[in-house]
Amino acid sequence: MKKIIIAIDGHSSCGKSTFAKEIAKKMCYTFIDTGAMYRAVTLWAIENNLIDNAQEIVANLDKVVINFKFNEQLERSEIYLNGKNVDSEIRLMHVSDNVSAVSAIAEVREKLVALQQQMGQDKGIVMDGRDIGTTVFPSAELKIFMTASVEVRAQRRFDELTQKGESVQMEHIKTNIQQRDFADENREQSPLRKADDAIVLDNSAMTVEEQMQWVDRLIIDKTE
Ligand code: DC
Repeated sequence: MKKIIIAIDGHSSCGKSTFAKEIAKKMCYTFIDTGAMYRAVTLWAIENNLIDNAQEIVANLDKVVINFKFNEQLERSEIYLNGKNVDSEIRLMHVSDNVSAVSAIAEVREKLVALQQQMGQDKGIVMDGRDIGTTVFPSAELKIFMTASVEVRAQRRFDELTQKGESVQMEHIKTNIQQRDFADENREQSPLRKADDAIVLDNSAMTVEEQMQWVDRLIIDKTE
């Protein structure tokens, strides 16, 4: 079976990572959540009081070391920022509120895109984000563009955060999702857009199992 690159892009909070993780597990591929990488840079900027200062973020970018380590117990990779596991912390609302601004900085994107391309050089990878099929791996064999209604996405994110014990307001989450969609689609650097050869998946009314059934045939076609 041929090893391929699977690029999954789409709107915020529509289950890209859950879907990508399931595909990677099934195919014994590496899963990379590129949103987590932009979130880690954002967390670093917050912790160092640089969040409103793009110039200083750029000047100090070489101090940011990001890597993933596989957690055998959880059966998935976790993200590390300068040696510290930040996998949970990067999902908190104060990071979500600032990540669009940080991910719009050209130098941040250059650094992370280079890292992502290095991670996928041997193929056998499922990567999710906003610009994977357009910029990171324009020649990926399988490209999927995911979306879902804002209501469904906000409910999913609300459930995820409340399960973690974070006290959140549904309206705040909805606004954050809409603002991030707008910022992602309208930024100058690698805006979120569907690659011409990407296949759209609207999972508003689909379970993960149904999404896996949907993708099965596509994977067989591309790996044969
Ligand atoms: O996938 P996510 O919601 O965790 O991503 C967080 C933010 O990072 C998102 O609002 C946009 C940005 N991002 C990006 O610009 N490019 C990517 N490849 C992945 C994420």
